[in-house]
Amino acid sequence: MSETNTVTKEWIRKSFVGKTKLPIVYEPAEEKPLDELLRWIRNQQKEWREDLKTYGAILFRGFPVHQASDFQEILFATEEKQLGEFYLGTSPRDEVLKHVFTASELPSHYPIMQHAEMSFLDNPPKFLFFYAEKASAYGGETPLTDLRLVYQNIDPKIKEKIEKYGIRYRRRYDGPSSQKRFSVWKTKRWDEMFGTTNLDKVNQIAKENRFQLDWFGEDSLTITNHQSGFRTHPIAGTIAWHNHSQTFHYQAGVSETWKIFKKQKTLRSFGVAVLLTILTSFKKLLGPNSHDVHVTYGNGEEISPKEMKSITNVFWNHMVAIPWQTGDVLFIDNFSVSHGRLPYNGPRRILVGWAD
Ligand SMILES: [Fe+2]
Repeated sequence: MSETNTVTKEWIRKSFVGKTKLPIVYEPAEEKPLDELLRWIRNQQKEWREDLKTYGAILFRGFPVHQASDFQEILFATEEKQLGEFYLGTSPRDEVLKHVFTASELPSHYPIMQHAEMSFLDNPPKFLFFYAEKASAYGGETPLTDLRLVYQNIDPKIKEKIEKYGIRYRRRYDGPSSQKRFSVWKTKRWDEMFGTTNLDKVNQIAKENRFQLDWFGEDSLTITNHQSGFRTHPIAGTIAWHNHSQTFHYQAGVSETWKIFKKQKTLRSFGVAVLLTILTSFKKLLGPNSHDVHVTYGNGEEISPKEMKSITNVFWNHMVAIPWQTGDVLFIDNFSVSHGRLPYNGPRRILVGWAD
């Protein structure tokens, strides 16, 4: 697997997959119980944090991580003070244990485009942690992209506009009167996202996150907010592309599905790409006001399909997709590296935690 091998004095061996240095892979040089790994994570804070800052992600492979509670122990071993409990993101998720959630309940044929977790919020998590409780038989990778490289390689004209205006998000959600958990264009209901039907609480959370709320229909809601689109790493000082244009722009989904078809070459991925192309052309005809999820430059100017395609190309040029192995644990620096999900077949369960 490895191209470069640095054997530490410790029992953990470090390597890289192929030519990419994303992620750095930690493997046990000798078999040890989970407790040893927990102790190592607890005691070698400086070492793994430095690697995480440099490479953007660490893949722990081959360690005896057998169940969700083992993963939870790893989260505790990081000694992060603010492990995630409340998820204000867009994916449908279920809580498994305290601080441990299912990564996404979206159907298996759905791609999830590259994004930094909750980058549309003022304070996105600094670290993300994934655990492959069950790796799928086919597909289902969690591809990673170095957002520092995306920032460096993005079309300068797009960069200039984001620098000047930032990014604006507008999302529409149905409320509790709709019993649906999932529709093609909306990923969840607002009561699922805010974790409450109490309007005082909803207003409070909205205020804390600078969300503008506009109610319509029976109990539907439009949320609008602005972000800068780029972020500086709080410790390293590096600048990263840091926005949700990939997941919120209608063109990104189409470009993504065709790229996935090229990669997976399956009948299903072809079908998904064709279907999404047709649905999206209807969407284009109906105009931006009809879109339930909409992202523009901060001044309201549309990000054109051509611009979006070029953004997708930069992501795919720098993306790394390593198939999961059951038991894998992945640490991600959310200020440097984005993640997504490729469609898959067969049972798959990836769990997630994060630290604010
Ligand atoms: Fe995510």
